[in-house]
Amino acid sequence: MSVAPSQLPAHIAIIMDGNGRWAKQRKLPRIEGHRRGVETVRAITDATRELGIRYLTLYAFSVENWKRPEEEVGALMGLLEFFLKRETKAMIKNRVRLLAIGRIHELPERVRTQLIAAMKATERFTDYTLVLALNYGARTEVVDAARAYATAVAAGKEKLNDSSWETFRRYLYTADIPDPDLVIRTSGESRVSNFLLLQAAYAEFIFTPVLWPDFTKGELLAACAEFARRERRYGQTSEQLKPVPSALAP
Ligand code: FPP
Repeated sequence: MSVAPSQLPAHIAIIMDGNGRWAKQRKLPRIEGHRRGVETVRAITDATRELGIRYLTLYAFSVENWKRPEEEVGALMGLLEFFLKRETKAMIKNRVRLLAIGRIHELPERVRTQLIAAMKATERFTDYTLVLALNYGARTEVVDAARAYATAVAAGKEKLNDSSWETFRRYLYTADIPDPDLVIRTSGESRVSNFLLLQAAYAEFIFTPVLWPDFTKGELLAACAEFARRERRYGQTSEQLKPVPSALAP
């Protein structure tokens, strides 16, 4: 399956769901599913880069995920630390910049230290960006952005009368990241679960039944092909989007 490069999304965001069910189906502990999920992260990061897709955002840990059993939260943090340690070299080799969105300051110190080191080591790269959503929630993000915006207004750096989406969006965690074109959720659930609610306002959504540990480059390509078939209208009509025949063009 191939999709013309101009038809590919520039930014894919993924809700990686189904690790627990993958493990359960095999009578394995849930953490085994997460472990396999980490290998999928590596494979899909490579695949998006090979396709020339410049931005990939992965929902790795939500603000709600702290409510999981302590043992699972600890194991997920351990896996994150392991991933960051193992992958920094590969990211440098492949010239991939790592960014993080979420309340990073609330992460355990060991994870935070690895994360900051990996981001620092890759900050000079501009071709490809991997964004990890960590301790992320869209509602929390809006609260944080509103607070930062209000502080800027109080300090005279922004004028309330000039408020617009373009100014406000600069206070979101994603200020330097383009909006996602395509959001994929694995495991058959059709929910957004507090992920990039504002940034995905005009994104295409694809829900696939495949569990995250089973998600492959082939499934990624199939999602890209489906994306290429869709017409994004941004509030306009289909006719408005049709190219004007050159004879009629002004
Ligand atoms: C959802 O599956 C997955 C998560 C809450 C965590 C995703 C984390 C990883 C893939 C590993 C760490 C990430 C990185 C970037 C190294 P679930 O457990 O909710 O699955 P279930 O709905 O089947 O129980």
